[in-house]
Amino acid sequence: MRPPPLLLALTLASFLPQLSSGGTPFPQDLEPISIVGRESSYLFPSFQGLMSDNDTVRLGLDFQRMLRINRMLYIAARDHVFAINLASSSEQIIPQQKLTWKTKDVEKCTSYIDECYNYIKVLVPRNDETLFACGTNAFNPTCRNYKMSTLEQEGEEVVGQARCPFESRQSNVGLFAGGDFYSATMTDFLASDAVIYRSLGESSPVLRTVKYDSKWLREPHFLHAIEYGNYVYFFLSEIAVEYTTLGKVVFSRVARVCKNDNGGSPRVLERYWTSFLKARLNCSVPGDSFFYFDVLQSLTNVLQINHRPAVLGVFTTQANSITGSAVCAFYMDDIEKAFSGKFKEQRNSETAWTPVPEDQVPKPRPGCCAGEGSAAAYKSSTTFPDDTLTFIKSYPLMDESVPSVNDRPYFTRTTSRFKLTQIAVDTSAGPNKNHTVVFLGSDNGHVLKILASTEGANASFSSQLLEDIDVYNPSKCNVQGEDRRVLGLELDRDHHALFVAFSSCVIRVPLSRCSDYTTCKK
Ligand SMILES: *[C@@H]1O[C@H](CO)[C@@H](O)[C@H](O)[C@H]1NC(C)=O
Ligand SMILES: *[C@@H]1O[C@H](CO)[C@@H](O)[C@H](O)[C@H]1NC(C)=O
Ligand SMILES: *[C@@H]1O[C@H](CO)[C@@H](O)[C@H](O)[C@H]1NC(C)=O
Ligand SMILES: *[C@@H]1O[C@H](CO)[C@@H](O)[C@H](O)[C@H]1NC(C)=O
Repeated sequence: MRPPPLLLALTLASFLPQLSSGGTPFPQDLEPISIVGRESSYLFPSFQGLMSDNDTVRLGLDFQRMLRINRMLYIAARDHVFAINLASSSEQIIPQQKLTWKTKDVEKCTSYIDECYNYIKVLVPRNDETLFACGTNAFNPTCRNYKMSTLEQEGEEVVGQARCPFESRQSNVGLFAGGDFYSATMTDFLASDAVIYRSLGESSPVLRTVKYDSKWLREPHFLHAIEYGNYVYFFLSEIAVEYTTLGKVVFSRVARVCKNDNGGSPRVLERYWTSFLKARLNCSVPGDSFFYFDVLQSLTNVLQINHRPAVLGVFTTQANSITGSAVCAFYMDDIEKAFSGKFKEQRNSETAWTPVPEDQVPKPRPGCCAGEGSAAAYKSSTTFPDDTLTFIKSYPLMDESVPSVNDRPYFTRTTSRFKLTQIAVDTSAGPNKNHTVVFLGSDNGHVLKILASTEGANASFSSQLLEDIDVYNPSKCNVQGEDRRVLGLELDRDHHALFVAFSSCVIRVPLSRCSDYTTCKK
């Protein structure tokens, strides 16, 4: 369906101030150097799930997530997990192994037909040989271990609550670090209790965020989790508590917990995190047409930018506003800096949020890991003084936001009605393996390939939009109507391919559009 002309005109760019000479102009959308249309993209190999499964034929694959481990790509969907051998998928995507895990609790399904299935929402490596998977299992979230090499189940099922959401639309992230499973999800059917949770460890206690406390989490949407140094980081968007003027506004956050957190004392925060801190991510265009992209959509793992550890994320404007997207990078040490800065407080419910004066911050500093920094004298967080624990319970939010690399986005898109939804990055692209190429998926089924100059101060001005690839294939991916939103991107650098996931199909896009790589250098 074609949008009415008025909607087409309502792009973000048309609302930004038109600047005369002297001002810093808002970055213009780049034109792609090359466009890859349907005639070539129709030929890309695709995977639609198990066609011998009647539910898949009727409802489609229902892609949930994918994960690359060594030579294999694991795809988690509704009722199934597939293992694809990357070395043999250039012509056809045929799973080398698959597992089917359907819910047995069918009697619960009568009133909620759509959720009568097992949406596999967690699929993470537990160790070198084991995959940990959790599914919604018809509103009865459940987890299992599977042998990575054969996809055979190992051991008993465990309860999935607080590790896996109750329904497919709820967001979640999870990872194993030091034998503990860190998860962020909703712990109930109504999504009223959001949690960042740690469990399944052999020696560390189960911990969680404080329940129903909007200062800790407010209607969060969890996007990514990373183990880095002594911490596990969570990236999310949520309703901003500190922004109170214009109704509900979404901000993006990075939150952090210490891996050696043992919870508080029997008086304060027992069995809760003592190290939970969060800060806003600042992805904005500076200058005269100052503008925020506040809604995180997707984020990379830690990679190197200018020889410094960093993450890259794709952000969009607020859901109810005019569409615009941007890619911002954040140095990990800038994130650290925000966490060691001032805390934010609201003195009473009428006033604005302000920084907590330094003399009111107790020692050891709230949010520190036991045995480090100002908490060096403490063996365990359970022995922290009440002052420190009481403070962190009330002030988990940092005052300063995390600035983006170069204080500006690497890439913006403001003249399109379509949002960017996913990101994947190759930091060793090109013949000399010294270029950074960013792949961006959008909600209209396209993938943009960008050559990002990560060196030097003016990165955003030297990015090039190399390709705009129309990946979505209606003849293979339309099952229950059209859903062109890119839900996942996974790079297979060894075989020069990018796996692009939609709800009903996964498509393998070759990274260079010519068989002889050397002729493609230009
Ligand atoms: C799948 O559908 C076919 C044709 O409608 C039917 O014959 C078959 O029994 C179904 N299989 C299952 C497992 O329901
Ligand atoms: C975000 O970064 C811009 C550019 O450096 C800065 O001007 C602005 O004050 C920052 N906003 C917040 C909330 O920190
Ligand atoms: C990549 O390496 C080549 C050869 O060493 C060099 O000429 C080129 O300038 C490098 N490019 C970047 C972006 O570092
Ligand atoms: C980077 O941009 C600034 C203005 O934003 C300009 O003054 C400076 O010369 C540029 N530097 C390079 C290396 O292009």
